[in-house]
Amino acid sequence: MELRGTHVLVTGGGSGIGRSLALRAASEGARAVTVLDLGDAAHDTAQQVEAGGAESVGVVNDVTDGSALAEAVAASVSRFGPVDFACANAGVAIGTGLAAPDAVWQKCWEVNVLGVVNLARAVLPDMASRGGGAFLVTASAAGLLTSLDSAPYAATKHAAVALAEWLAITYAGAGVGFHCLCPQGVRTPMIETEGIGPSTLAAGALLEPEEVADSVVKALRAGQFLVLPHPEVAGFEQKRVADRDNWIAGMARWRDRVIGSAATTPPPAPG
Ligand SMILES: NC(=O)c1ccc[n+]([C@@H]2O[C@H](COP(=O)([O-])OP(=O)(O)OC[C@H]3O[C@@H](n4cnc5c(N)ncnc54)[C@H](O)[C@@H]3O)[C@@H](O)[C@H]2O)c1
Repeated sequence: MELRGTHVLVTGGGSGIGRSLALRAASEGARAVTVLDLGDAAHDTAQQVEAGGAESVGVVNDVTDGSALAEAVAASVSRFGPVDFACANAGVAIGTGLAAPDAVWQKCWEVNVLGVVNLARAVLPDMASRGGGAFLVTASAAGLLTSLDSAPYAATKHAAVALAEWLAITYAGAGVGFHCLCPQGVRTPMIETEGIGPSTLAAGALLEPEEVADSVVKALRAGQFLVLPHPEVAGFEQKRVADRDNWIAGMARWRDRVIGSAATTPPPAPG
């Protein structure tokens, strides 16, 4: 798929990787870009996209509200025509270990997984009936490997990868392209403020969000499902599936080195 002349829609487009995807779409010649995010940052990105030569609208929207997301998609379709490339990119990286409150687990589930479901519900029926378009899930290398810092993040990003694969398998005959983006560390507010943490920083080079957007454009062109801006992740995943016990032992040693032994971590609070 080429982005020239398309209508691109990005959730979590007010910041980081989502903003870079929106701006790169404009520079690739997209006709229109719909930017959704929780606050005014959506409008800021939309203004930057317009400066880059595409029509754009910023929409304040929470991906966990399926009805509101469907309404926002319908409004953008009325304005710009069918969505050609939908990016389910909004995400949160919060929580630590078992002691993370249920509300944190719930939020990770609702944003990182149900947010993708809600966007798929809003755009896929039309894409499938037209027999075209592409759908991107921004998961994470944490969804192929793990996150040492956050159990809720690791678990929900694995679910996001599983969901992306399920969509690609289920809609294989529909003419829609599916892509699953799995970066390691990327220099965005998430890593700077939400603190994915020391394991991500220790895991290799931090990429710029523009480099991640470049990987996405190349994967769209190549029709490639798995998008790995950090190519070494492919090798890590192969080691993981080849020998789980060895993988877990190695990860445990690495955890001790970058975080400290789990045995010295205080046990979770009751409840
Ligand atoms: N930065 C990294 O190192 C990294 C690595 C792998 C994967 N990712 C994934 O990339 C995606 C984008 O993250 P980023 O690094 O650009 O971080 P970011 O914090 O810059 O951007 C995330 C955006 O998602 C938005 N968002 C959060 N909850 C939302 C909700 N309920 N509804 C709508 N929007 C919501 C935020 O407001 C924010 O603008 C996320 O899914 C994240 O998990 C990031």
